[in-house]
Amino acid sequence: MIEMTGISKAFSCNQVLKNVSFSLEKGEIHALMGENGAGKSTMMKVLTGIHKRDAGKIAVKGKEVDFSSPKEAEKAGIAVIHQELNILPHLSIAENLFLRKEETVGKTNILRTKSMNIKTKKMLAELGLDVNPSSPASELSVGKQ
Ligand SMILES: Nc1ncnc2c1ncn2[C@@H]1O[C@H](COP(=O)(O)OP(=O)(O)OP(=O)(O)O)[C@@H](O)[C@H]1O
Ligand SMILES: [Mg+2]
Repeated sequence: MIEMTGISKAFSCNQVLKNVSFSLEKGEIHALMGENGAGKSTMMKVLTGIHKRDAGKIAVKGKEVDFSSPKEAEKAGIAVIHQELNILPHLSIAENLFLRKEETVGKTNILRTKSMNIKTKKMLAELGLDVNPSSPASELSVGKQ
C-alpha cells in the first residue's frame, strides 16, 4: 500500500534519516519507535511532502509518488495526525473537521452548516464519540480533541 525505500534526509550537517525503508499494508497498524530526535516525525513529513527527501523512493499502491504538500498526500488517502494539537479552539467541532474542505451552496461561499454538522455527528459516532458537532472544539477534553 505505502512503500518508502532508501529514504535519506539531512538538515544541513545533521543526517537524520540514512537509507530508511518502511512499508505498510492496508489494515496494518505499526508503531514507529525511537528516542526523541530519532527522526520519526521527519520520516512522516517526508512521506506527506512537508520535507523534500534527499534520496529514496515512495510508492503508493505500486505507483511512485512525490507529494509536494500534505494536501496532495491527503488526496491519495494519506493523512497524518501530529502529536501536537492543532485544532482551532474557537471553531466548532464540525468546522474543524471540514477545515479547507467546507461544503458550500453551489459555487458560493455560503456554508452548508447543517449538512456538515450531520456528517460530523455520523463520522464521530463511528468512533464511539457522542458530541454536539456545533459546540466549540475547545469544549472537548484533550483526548477527544
Ligand atoms: N525543520 C527542521 N530543521 C532542522 N532540523 C530539524 C527539523 N526538523 C527536525 N530536525 C532535527 O531532525 C532530528 C529528528 O527530529 P524528529 O522531529 O524527526 O524526531 P522524532 O523522532 O520525531 O522525535 P520526538 O520523539 O521528539 O517527536 C532532530 O535532530 C531535529 O532537531
Ligand atoms: Mg516527533
